[in-house]
Amino acid sequence: MAADLLSLVAVVTGASSGIGRAIARKLLDDGATVCAIGRDQQALAELAGDAGAPVEGRLLPYLADLADDEACRLVAGQIKSDHVAVDVLVHAAGAIELGGHATAPADGFDRQYQVNVRAPFVLTQAFLEPISARPGQVVFVNSSAGVRAAAGAGQYGATKHALKALADSLRDEVNAQGVRVLSVYVGRTATPMQARVHAHEGRDYEPERLIQPDDVASMVLACLRLPATAEVTDLSIRPLLPPR
Ligand SMILES: NC(=O)c1ccc[n+]([C@@H]2O[C@H](COP(=O)([O-])OP(=O)(O)OC[C@H]3O[C@@H](n4cnc5c(N)ncnc54)[C@H](OP(=O)(O)O)[C@@H]3O)[C@@H](O)[C@H]2O)c1
Repeated sequence: MAADLLSLVAVVTGASSGIGRAIARKLLDDGATVCAIGRDQQALAELAGDAGAPVEGRLLPYLADLADDEACRLVAGQIKSDHVAVDVLVHAAGAIELGGHATAPADGFDRQYQVNVRAPFVLTQAFLEPISARPGQVVFVNSSAGVRAAAGAGQYGATKHALKALADSLRDEVNAQGVRVLSVYVGRTATPMQARVHAHEGRDYEPERLIQPDDVASMVLACLRLPATAEVTDLSIRPLLPPR
């Protein structure tokens, strides 16, 4: 795959907000065509206005609730019928429900599992053929909780550990075909999700002290641009400033 992202087709989940949105926007700025998946139609459409470069038909919004397997397969089928090739698949959609072992309802586990684990699995499976044919690249936006889960985030951390397992296993299966697989373990990043986490923890939300979504996106695009002889497998990004 070329070190340049111009004219590639990228599928990005979570493109309506936060980290996924920043990645989608930078891909558009670099000339890629972006199939932007989310549930918020208006937010997806507004991506065109946010991009720094003219988008001219390169932003294709796709509505899908990734909590539903069939919706994942349907949206993948629609994208594959709209585009012969898929070069990049970015799994950035995610759900979080916090709570300790004493009180967290078990149902929350299933909701997070659906979006954080099952949807990336079903979508990867659906795009495996076109991604292998290029060969392309798959990015999993994981979390520091996917390496070490903290108190009060056991369910979320378990889903992100499972996502690490999917990425590691996929990498072993597809590297020989030239497909690269990147896991990005991000710490606290200034997004609506992190604002909700701060509210849950009763902390003041100071987004300027956190990682900025654009900086995560810059790192991801640097990895995507790497010449094809090398692969960044795991990228760990944390805020420079300690929490207060
Ligand atoms: N922010 C952080 O501090 C942080 C830290 C570690 C890891 N992460 C991970 O980074 C990724 C992006 O999170 P973020 O912080 O950017 O959060 P965010 O701003 O809340 O965005 C979450 C995205 O996920 C999508 N999504 C959630 N449930 C969905 C569903 N059922 N169907 C379709 N789309 C769904 C949302 O789409 P709609 O709004 O259109 O529904 C939205 O685009 C997640 O995987 C998260 O776990 C974030």
